[in-house]
Amino acid sequence: MSGVNEIRSAFLEYFEKNGHERVASSPLVPRNDPTLMFTNAGMVQFKNVFTGIEKRPYDRAVTAQKCVRAGGKHNDLDNVGYTARHHTFFEMLGNFSFGDYFKDRAIELAWNLITREFGMPADRLLVTVFSEDEEAATLWKKIAGLSDDRIIRIATSDNFWSMGETGPCGPCSEIFYDHGEGIPGGPPGSPDEDGDRFIEIWNLVFMQFEQVTPGERLALPRPSIDTGMGLERIAAVLQGVHDNYDIDLFKALIGSVEAAVGSKAEAGKAASHRVIADHLRSTAFLIADGVLPSNEGRGYVLRRIMRRAMRHARMLGAREPVLYKVLPTLVAEMGRAYPELVRAEALISETLKLEEKRFLQTLDRGLSLLAEATEGMSAGQKLSGETAFKLYDTYGFPLDLTQDALRQRGIEVDFDAFNTAMARQKAEARASWAGSGEAAAENVWYPIRERVGATEFLGYDTERAEGAVVALVKDGEEVDRAGEGDEVSVIVNQTPFYGESGGQLGDTGTMRGDGVELEIADTRKFADGLFVHRATVRRGELRVGSALELEVDHRRRTMIRSNHSATHLLHEGLREVLGSHVAQKGSMVAPDRLRFDFSHPKPIEASELAEVERLANAVVLQNAPVETRLMAVDDAIASGAMALFGEKYGDEVRVVSMGVAEEGEKAGKTYSIELCGGTHVRATGEIGLVHVVSEGAVAAGVRRIEALTGAAARDYLLEQDARVRRMAATLKAAPAEVADRLEALVEERRRLERELAEAKKRLALSGGGGAAVPAVREISGVSFLGRVLEGVSGKDLKGLVDEAKAQLKSGIVAFVGVADGKASVVVGVTDDLTQRFDAVSLVREASAAIGGKGGGGRPDMAQAGGPDADKAEDAVAAVEAALAA
Ligand code: ALA
Repeated sequence: MSGVNEIRSAFLEYFEKNGHERVASSPLVPRNDPTLMFTNAGMVQFKNVFTGIEKRPYDRAVTAQKCVRAGGKHNDLDNVGYTARHHTFFEMLGNFSFGDYFKDRAIELAWNLITREFGMPADRLLVTVFSEDEEAATLWKKIAGLSDDRIIRIATSDNFWSMGETGPCGPCSEIFYDHGEGIPGGPPGSPDEDGDRFIEIWNLVFMQFEQVTPGERLALPRPSIDTGMGLERIAAVLQGVHDNYDIDLFKALIGSVEAAVGSKAEAGKAASHRVIADHLRSTAFLIADGVLPSNEGRGYVLRRIMRRAMRHARMLGAREPVLYKVLPTLVAEMGRAYPELVRAEALISETLKLEEKRFLQTLDRGLSLLAEATEGMSAGQKLSGETAFKLYDTYGFPLDLTQDALRQRGIEVDFDAFNTAMARQKAEARASWAGSGEAAAENVWYPIRERVGATEFLGYDTERAEGAVVALVKDGEEVDRAGEGDEVSVIVNQTPFYGESGGQLGDTGTMRGDGVELEIADTRKFADGLFVHRATVRRGELRVGSALELEVDHRRRTMIRSNHSATHLLHEGLREVLGSHVAQKGSMVAPDRLRFDFSHPKPIEASELAEVERLANAVVLQNAPVETRLMAVDDAIASGAMALFGEKYGDEVRVVSMGVAEEGEKAGKTYSIELCGGTHVRATGEIGLVHVVSEGAVAAGVRRIEALTGAAARDYLLEQDARVRRMAATLKAAPAEVADRLEALVEERRRLERELAEAKKRLALSGGGGAAVPAVREISGVSFLGRVLEGVSGKDLKGLVDEAKAQLKSGIVAFVGVADGKASVVVGVTDDLTQRFDAVSLVREASAAIGGKGGGGRPDMAQAGGPDADKAEDAVAAVEAALAA
């Protein structure tokens, strides 16, 4: 007997040995198909390889693919727990040929694997073929030696496989295992084929066509092979059990469920254990692939799965969250094959606890309401749609949970009445929008939001995905097409483009589809979750309904991530260094820089900023993983997460944490924890470097810092370094000495300036400098000192005139300074002479000589200026003349 892990390995190794490339499972959220809710088969990731759009470096591949069949075309949710072989999550083993081998080799490889490697007895095996596919029947006879009665021809769609409404498809041939006469049931195609005796174990699809639209089918460029073998089923056969839930993996999980809820999986209860084991698998894998519970789209399918499991846990007696207790067993069983499970374990565990805690608060009340409403009802009767809606709306019971709860009693739900109640609630919500002020400004977005639902954001996990256009808006109006050159707002059902929020700018990038190419200049969010891409049609015609390959500008987004994570590190650093009064007041996370505004009453010292930067860079060097969790707001805040006061948060919030504090009170604890919906680096090392480039005030009590990260920070510092080198070269000093040398130079210059001013003063007062005329002359009986002082500016003149007046004791001074091509004049009159002479009128004479317009002052001191510096001597002469007159 082989365990599930060995069987998976044996399958992969067998095909690898036979020239197949081992390809990793693709995520459960398909990146390459906008119509598919979850990856539901191994071929999904190869869809475009089959049709020839995408090339891969191999023609043969083998995978073990994670699949979820809940929601969409293949939906097994309702059956899980009640049958031996239904799962919401399962693994599909498959081998693929892309135009390489076809039917014969596919049959040969399959037959050899199961009969030789797996040692299954040939007489327990039989196959089906599509009734029109005589070739396949002949090959089975030839290669496997199967007799005619073991090759069953089926005319129905059971033997024509397609992934959905559209996509690659073809006739198929299924291999069945006969569990023996002891089990009721007939072979495929017989009236009692639904019995459990003959079980399909492997489906070989001969991919020959592509369903382009529901009515149009084209031949594929090269016939190909797609196969699918459910790992759980083949394990059951190989482990000699009849029920998938009896294989080693499920035994371990169910054992763990028994321990967690304290209740054995005995008659009457086993279905609940199975539901929990199965649903835990899809929950864990979906969360690991980026889906989180919500009220719409994929998130709602996940929530339904989780709540269904929770109700079953409750039925088994659980009063506290228990599902997360089973998770370690799942990780132990499957973590080696799927390392993403190990990486996301904390996130899965906390999301489970959170959802369960919250749902338990209403579950009991909902269940008693349901019990009351169905009291006395018998099988075949219907629960009113109103009650089902109330359970949905008030108690958080997804419709399928209510149906599941009534299933054992044979009671159904009045589905139409439920839908009517739902429609009425939507209409009321619409009416209340219409009344709100927000609606007026955004009145195009609300109707679209209501019609198409919130856009599913895939950008936490991928920068590339396919999306289907669900609405177009041009010049404020909805349109159904846009042509080349048009500027148009594009809404798709799912997008990797981040819509501007929380300070982080929206993504830019491209969208491409059949003959059409768009450039996306910005992405924003409106009307509660509608992502609006501002696009220019570069080529072709865009229509509502088109499928597009959406691709975010990777370089820009990478820089944004880095700046966003760095913002968190700086925020925490500021609180550490300046104190916990620091609170975010605003932020902008752009590709080229980040800006962070926060409350703080005074300028930040250079040493404080350096310390903030040092703390942030220490966490960068830790290269610590950045962890995201979903939590209830209250719990998040209790855990120390920083939230913005006054910000509107939903019931659940993303909590982003990174790094470990290396010092201070928090040493050893998580460095930064914030509520944040933005996109971040995976590990802090990707930030490279954080450098603050400016600090200043934006408003009273609010400071702003700007910083750079990664290459931008490095470029900035390199430029600074080059500047220092240039200065060093000019100073003929080593770069390390530049600062000291500059200080010395500045000091020296100050000293020289002082000395020069002194010298000029001395010169002016002494009348030296080789002047032909005696310094002080007698005019009209008073002493007069008049001079032109080269290189002395207006501001120094007054002091000089004062000093000269003091030296003269009694007299008149007129100094004309010439500097920077301008002349200034100051006239001083000692107090004893102010009765006879007025400095203001004297300075006016001087001013006129140098082309000035008057002047002003007091009778003892007045000043003026003028543009004609070369007439400075004339100004002195003018004062002299005025005195002489
Ligand atoms: N794609 C095929 C299936 O899912 C193999 O059954």
